[in-house]
Amino acid sequence: MLPSEHYVGGEFVRGDAAPVVVRSPSTDEVLAEIPGAGVALAERAAAANGVAARAMRALPVLRRVELVRRLAAAVRAEQVPLARLLTLESGKPIAESRTEVEYSASFFDNAAAAAEMAAGELPAARLADRRVLVLREPIGATVAITPWNFPLAMIARKLAPALAAGCSQLVKPAEDTPLTALAFARLFAKTAVECAAPPAAFGVVVGDPISIARAFIEEPSTRKLTFTGSTEVGRLLATQCAPRLLRTALELGGNAPFLVFADADLDRAADQAMLSKFRFMGQTCISANRFLLEESIADEFLSRLEARMRALVVGDPLSEATRVGPLINDAAIRKVELHVRDSVAKGARIRLGGARAEVAGLAPRFFMPTILTGCSPMMHCACEETFGPIVASMTFRTESEAVMIANAVPHGLAAYVMTQDADRLLRVAEALDFGVVGANDGAPSTAEAPFGGRKDSGLGREGGMYGLDAYVDLKYVSMRVRGC
Ligand code: SIN
Repeated sequence: MLPSEHYVGGEFVRGDAAPVVVRSPSTDEVLAEIPGAGVALAERAAAANGVAARAMRALPVLRRVELVRRLAAAVRAEQVPLARLLTLESGKPIAESRTEVEYSASFFDNAAAAAEMAAGELPAARLADRRVLVLREPIGATVAITPWNFPLAMIARKLAPALAAGCSQLVKPAEDTPLTALAFARLFAKTAVECAAPPAAFGVVVGDPISIARAFIEEPSTRKLTFTGSTEVGRLLATQCAPRLLRTALELGGNAPFLVFADADLDRAADQAMLSKFRFMGQTCISANRFLLEESIADEFLSRLEARMRALVVGDPLSEATRVGPLINDAAIRKVELHVRDSVAKGARIRLGGARAEVAGLAPRFFMPTILTGCSPMMHCACEETFGPIVASMTFRTESEAVMIANAVPHGLAAYVMTQDADRLLRVAEALDFGVVGANDGAPSTAEAPFGGRKDSGLGREGGMYGLDAYVDLKYVSMRVRGC
């Protein structure tokens, strides 16, 4: 049976507000109607999260680490059913959903290791009789708002370091994809009981995003909000958090440039481009969005990319062979269509695809892998994230021109550079104004790296020791020592 209960204060409870209807993006079938969490339930969940923060703070580090390690094992043990649920509600091809489950487990592994290694400090004191003891303390109750494109991994990326640092976390998953989060809550509840950890250290409520976010932020015990999603919503949340001076971590939209220089290994570059562009059909914040190709190799690179794109199987995301499933919803596919239409109207050419793909018996939400040539920075496909399977390409002549075009957007999450010249690789990686650079690497995301963006792509870092630090408050104790 599909999960439909919220997880609040360590208990599964039914919602008390308008239902959240979860549909399959492939078939339009209603997968679940979850009675939503109204204001009262969201407030109760936020208050319980505050109480749980005190219990987590009291839990010794070894016990926190044990909880987090066991969560990694629990997620791995349920890889097959979790992946299936994730595919049903998001349309992510099943092979990728299994990868996402493993990616999620890796955040728990990594946070456990980071927490074991974490140490306070004793900086050299200026006075002989003074000792400055720097303590790392959990920041307390945290709340998270997570996106539909990684229904499990973005919870794991936020929750794992929160628990490992000794914090509690209450999550509101996206309305499009709440089922994986609710299924994870069952795993959490079981795991917490097994290792005698506070069962309320994690919570999930699903429902109206505006009222839930308000309840999360206004709860006096809440100390931090972490959000992954659009820049517009991130700005709004930051504004709501400001009066309370709440800490915020905002992982917002991107508009990733993918630079291919003439000295790149073109087959390798095309392979990396496929990894970046076709991960969840381009529906990730770090997907390559603008392909900047050195003029002399542009056509050759696109031929190699095109051959790979023609081999992609478009179809039912539950089928093992499928690499391109449906886009998440109607708004998503309309946006992709708009970007293609706008590009063509402004002078771009369609080299491959360019329209919806029909998949017999399934909803009209599939889009053909598409290549556009002759794009320019003023087109929608270049100044906004397309979030779809579109390769929008344009050419450059010099390295400085490529870097200038790459940086000339308000976003700064991820960028890619393909070259075999080691000097250029480092020079360009340093010049790119982005938080993540894939250097001959189209899949740079990994649990140990400090993931996050600059400018309109947000603030804060998640992953590894950096991610753990985001849930830690430093305190120093200044001590006078007699007899020194
Ligand atoms: C995202 O799209 O927000 C996250 C991508 C990643 O973890 O690679």
